[in-house]
Amino acid sequence: MNKKGFIFDLDGVIVDTAKYHFLAWQKLAKSIDVDFTEAENEQLKGVSRVKSLEKILEWGNKSISEDEFMKLMALKNNDYLSYINEMDENEILPDVSRVLNFLIDANQGISLGSASKNARTILKKVNLYNSFEAIVDGNDVIKGKPNPEVFLKAAKALNISPDDCIVFEDSVAGIQAANAANMISIGVGEKDVLNQANYVFKDFTELENSFLNKLIKNK
Ligand code: BG6
Ligand code: MG
Repeated sequence: MNKKGFIFDLDGVIVDTAKYHFLAWQKLAKSIDVDFTEAENEQLKGVSRVKSLEKILEWGNKSISEDEFMKLMALKNNDYLSYINEMDENEILPDVSRVLNFLIDANQGISLGSASKNARTILKKVNLYNSFEAIVDGNDVIKGKPNPEVFLKAAKALNISPDDCIVFEDSVAGIQAANAANMISIGVGEKDVLNQANYVFKDFTELENSFLNKLIKNK
């Protein structure tokens, strides 16, 4: 039987929460007089909350106490959660449900592989919690992307060998993590940004069932 493991990143792949992360970080950065560019924001995608704040402080040449650091992290997350609270299934990105249902019908392994500690809350909000056989998120890993830990744990949870796994990712760090895990990496987004991926699609509407079948059958 051809059973592959399909591992999905969450933010920016299943739902458009990447824009909410950006808005919340931007507001927080402004409050401490730091500006960051769109290119710098790309470096925050897929990266843990702690690492993201460290990067922002580095760009702004700021050093703060540990207490202040914790306070800023909480502020960012509260702001982010105010967007999340408003979410429902209309925020599932186009054709994500079609792809998930196709893979479920084809009896494939399906896991989440996200850096977010809010992943379970978001999946419940958009009613996709039960579409995943396994969920590995920011609460389950020590080393964040680009380290492959999150995807290796997802493969293990599915009981499928890493080289039989395929990862969908919108971040550079996530593509690097998938490659380091020896998995097929599929970028969802811009080709010039995600140029380390094995394949890149603008979004799931461009990814046909025939391509999924090829992934299931070949490797
Ligand atoms: C990733 C996002 O999925 O999760 C990052 O791409 C975010 O932008 C990271 O920083 C951690 O998320 P959270 O929800 O735990 O702050
Ligand atoms: Mg992402």
